[in-house]
This record gives sequence, structure tokens and C-alpha cells, in this order.
Amino acid sequence: MHSRREFLVACSVAPIAAAAAPLNSFDDQVRRILAGMTLDEKLGQMAQPDQEFLKSPDDVKNYFLGSLLSGGDSDPRAGNGLAAWTDMIDGYQKTAIGTRLQIPILYGIDAVHGHNNVIGATIFPHNIGLGATRNAVLVERAARITSEEVRATGANWVFAPCVTVPQDIRWGRTYEGFSESPDVVKVLGEAAVRGLQRESLENPLAVLVCVKHFVGDGGTAWGLSKPKMLDQGDTRVDEATLRRVHLPGYETTVKAGAGTIMPSYSSWNGEKVSGSEKLMTGILKNELAFQGFLISDYAAIDQLPGNYKQQITRSINAGMDMVMIPGKYIEFITTLKQCAQDGSVPMARIDDALTRILRTKFAMGLMDAKRSPLADRSLHNSFGSEGHRAVARECVRASLVVLKNENQALPLAKNAAHIHVAGKSADDLGNQCGGWTIRWQGASGRPTDGTTVLEAVQRAVAPKTRVSSSIDGAGVGDAKVAIAVIGEKPYAEGMGDRADLHLAPEDVATVARLKSSGAKVIAVILSGRPVFIEDVLAQADAVVAAWLPGSEGDGVADVLFGKYRPTGKLSFTWPKASSTTLHRGDTGYETLFEFGWGLSY
Ligand code: GLC
Repeated sequence: MHSRREFLVACSVAPIAAAAAPLNSFDDQVRRILAGMTLDEKLGQMAQPDQEFLKSPDDVKNYFLGSLLSGGDSDPRAGNGLAAWTDMIDGYQKTAIGTRLQIPILYGIDAVHGHNNVIGATIFPHNIGLGATRNAVLVERAARITSEEVRATGANWVFAPCVTVPQDIRWGRTYEGFSESPDVVKVLGEAAVRGLQRESLENPLAVLVCVKHFVGDGGTAWGLSKPKMLDQGDTRVDEATLRRVHLPGYETTVKAGAGTIMPSYSSWNGEKVSGSEKLMTGILKNELAFQGFLISDYAAIDQLPGNYKQQITRSINAGMDMVMIPGKYIEFITTLKQCAQDGSVPMARIDDALTRILRTKFAMGLMDAKRSPLADRSLHNSFGSEGHRAVARECVRASLVVLKNENQALPLAKNAAHIHVAGKSADDLGNQCGGWTIRWQGASGRPTDGTTVLEAVQRAVAPKTRVSSSIDGAGVGDAKVAIAVIGEKPYAEGMGDRADLHLAPEDVATVARLKSSGAKVIAVILSGRPVFIEDVLAQADAVVAAWLPGSEGDGVADVLFGKYRPTGKLSFTWPKASSTTLHRGDTGYETLFEFGWGLSY
């Protein structure tokens, strides 16, 4: 656990959210529409296919679908741009309101650090960076901009915030977590819900949130997962630990009115969460009085024991309300209908799921015939705007953590004669943004619009200052200052599970070459987690953890040149390479920098 001082450092004061109408205040209206629905119309509301797997767009009305998603890489067929996304989502929405009951769809997408699937969107730091800001007000502002850019495309549901509390940084989803500390996660998760859902879901700029992944997704034990080593694995802790470490983010976000929650792929002591009545109904719906609905993870119920009918029966009866079915939506609906007709899934359970789903649609104003569910295209004017990017830049500045600063290395002088910028990530926007950026796994290079660290340095220095650059550190020449931008290449989910967190040899070589030139060396680490930095720590005069800052590299230059005095504090303990385990709290974990560490000028 962390000290009270650390906790006080942990989070700035957050404004109290105005109380939105409780979801069950819409139940009279829900009951009226529910009474007139056919079984097929009800079951369609519980199905969420991925749009890319629809056999025909008309299946939205043929099967009375209540929701669609774009999972990772599920782009419009017309290409990836603001207009193509908007036309695609509006197209599905128009089909949905062409049905007898004209119930609009919820269109879900992983806007986890901005509207990150769409080229041109403002890309914010991933949560690990926002956690280092400890600034709930800033997190809420970032979320408000994200909701506006999501709405610009006609989407109205985001699979965020992730309130995971990662306990082992070898996990490829560490960066989706604000912190290893539930005290930080619960405050920033709540701030994200306030920003995304606004003061009321009726606000046309609000989006429905999906707090994920319930519960204990970040506590899995190494080697108990298949096919990866941690992701979707088994969290083996007693109930007191599960509640103390992994539940707080749900307590605060449910209180803040979160509309949906996503049960985790992972298991708790051998039982898949997606089939656990104790967790989904006992704790969430009964104890925490969650009034919204549960959406499964992507084909997560397929991981439950038994055949498909048994998986569906088990998950729905345990409390799952809507199922994310990438492709087999016809089989799902057909099988669920069998369950309803043979009583293996009671109609009362189906009507409860429908009540929860329709509550959110009423709360969002989607059932108001006077309101159009289509995109507000006037928001295209502010999509990826300078104003939005300025807020992202503030987030970047506040997220950087100065781990080391000796020989007055930082802040840098703007009017130095010559500065050299090196490293594989110096001019690589893809590495800067990380996973969940345009591509599910992210991609090195320039996948979207933004400013790299090199471009930011070029813009920050005085006109007469020469800025040279290289990948490998060659060509420093007479530069007295050299910046190495190094770290991890993009990954997402289990693809990022990694036992060896050493820096790549190319990164170590780059820093060594800069050091041998006699210049002062500043190492900027772009990574989704703490990585082993002993190979460069002695060589560098200063080391800055910049996490995955997103599209606004200017925020990095603001700290390097002292335009912003660094305030970032580690939200994850930084381990030594000599650690024999990286699972927090286990014997053998050796600390290099403590939770809460961060230097300033
Ligand atoms: C993914 C992730 C989840 C995401 C969902 C939809 O597998 O586990 O975080 O929201 O599928 O893309």
C-alpha cells in the first residue's frame, strides 16, 4: 500500500459531479416499450456484432440489432477518415431507425486515448501517462474532448475508461492503467467518467462509458494464461485483496453514473469473470447497485466451459446483459432464442437485461423521436483542432516524469548553438502514440497527424540553433547537447506480454554513441511501462519517462526546455533489472525508483 503522503500527492482535488438522473428513473418508459416488443426484437438488443463481420448492413434491421462496434482495425470500407467514419456509422443508424420500433443503435469503439481509430483525431497520452499527472481536472478535460470527437463521427459509446490496477508490468496492457495504486485509479477513473458522460447523458456531446475490465484484469499471475503469459489469465487472490486492490475503480465510477461495465476475459481463482454470478450480479448489480448494463468482451463468452448454448446460458444467467459477438451474431441470436424458449434463460432475466439496456438509451435521449441519433457534423470543425491539441499538450507536459537530472542537464537552453536529436523514436509518431492508435496494435512511422519529439525540438529552439538528427547517434559533431528518444515499439493486449524489459540493443548503442561524443545526454524513454534502464542510466546526464504521449510532442519539448517545470510523479514503481519477479509485492522485486518519484527544476 502507499503512504498517506503519496496518496495526497496522488490526486489533485476533483470537482463533485452534478447528479445525473439515475438510470432507473426511466423505468416507466422502459416498461411501456418492453411490453410491446417481440422476442426477436428483445434478443436483437442483446447482440453486438462487429460491423466488419455483418453479412449485410440490412442485418441491423433484419435482426433488430441494438448495437454495433468497431473493434481494433474495424475501419470503414471507404477508408479511414473523418467523413468515411461518419458516413459509415450514420448509415447503420439510419437502418436501425428504419425498424418497427425505430430504436437507435449504440455504436461502440475503443476511444481509449482520444478517438484513436480515426486519422486526424487528437491523440492523448495513454492512461499510464495521465496517471503520472495525478490531475483529475486534466483527465476530465481530456475526456470531454474525446467525447466531442467521438460524437463528431456519430459513435455514442466508448469502451473506456479502463480502471485496471496492473500489478505486473510485464503485462501488455499496463499502459491502459492509470496506476498500480487503486487510490490513483479510483479518482482518475471517476474523472474520466465525468468527462465522457458529462453532467448528463442527455448532453449531445456526452458518450456512454464502459468501465473495464471488471474485475482483477491487472492481477493475473505470470504463466497461468494461454496463449500469452499474463493477458486474460487467472488472478489468484483472496476476496479481501480483490476488493482492496481491484474494486475501487468500480465503486467510484458506478457512483458517478457509469452506464456500462465490461467484465474481463480473465478469471478469479479459476473462474472466468464472464460466467461469474457472484461477481457480475452479487457484487456489481446487488452490492454496488449498478443500474446500467454489462457488455461482454470481444467473444469472451466463447472462453467459458461447454458448448455455445451452455456458454450463453451461463453468462447471461450470471448477469451478462449484452454480448460482443464479432461475427456469429446470427448463431448467437438463434441460440439465445432457444434458451428463452426452453427456459434455460428465464424471460425475467432477458427482460432485466432489456430494462438495463433501454434505460441507457432513454437516458441518452436516443428514444426521443424529436432528437436525431445521427452525427452532429458541425463538430467536424473542431475535430483534431489546435484547441483540442493544446489540451493534449498540457496532458503530455504534466505526464512526464524526470527520473534523473545531473550536471544541470535540464532544462535545456533554447539558444544552444547545436542540438542533436537521436533514437529510433525521435521522429516516429507511431512509437510516440503506442498501441490502440489507428491500428489495433499501433504502428511505427506516421499513422496519423501529430508532432514528433524531433519536430517539437525544432520548433522550440531559437532560430539560430542548429538541430541535427540521426537514428543511431552518429553525426553529433560539435553539439554540446544530445537527446536520445528511445524505448518500446507499439503493441496492444497480450501481444505486449513480455518477460524481458531490457531496452533494445539499438537504444543502448545510441546512448553510448552520444555519450562518447562528449555531449550532455538526455534520454527520453517512450514506453508503455517502466522498462529496465540501467544500461543507459549511468551514461545519461538526465533521464525522462515520457510514457506514450500521443500526437502532441510539443509537450515533451515544453519540459525539456523548461517552458513547463516537470510535475509528473511515477504512478508505477520502477523496478531494477536484477529483480527476479515483476509482480508487485512478491519477494524478489527490487525497486529502482519508488512510486511517487519525480524530480523538478
Ligand atoms: C478487446 C479488449 C477490450 C476492447 C474490446 C473491443 O479484446 O479486451 O478492451 O474494448 O476487445 O475492441
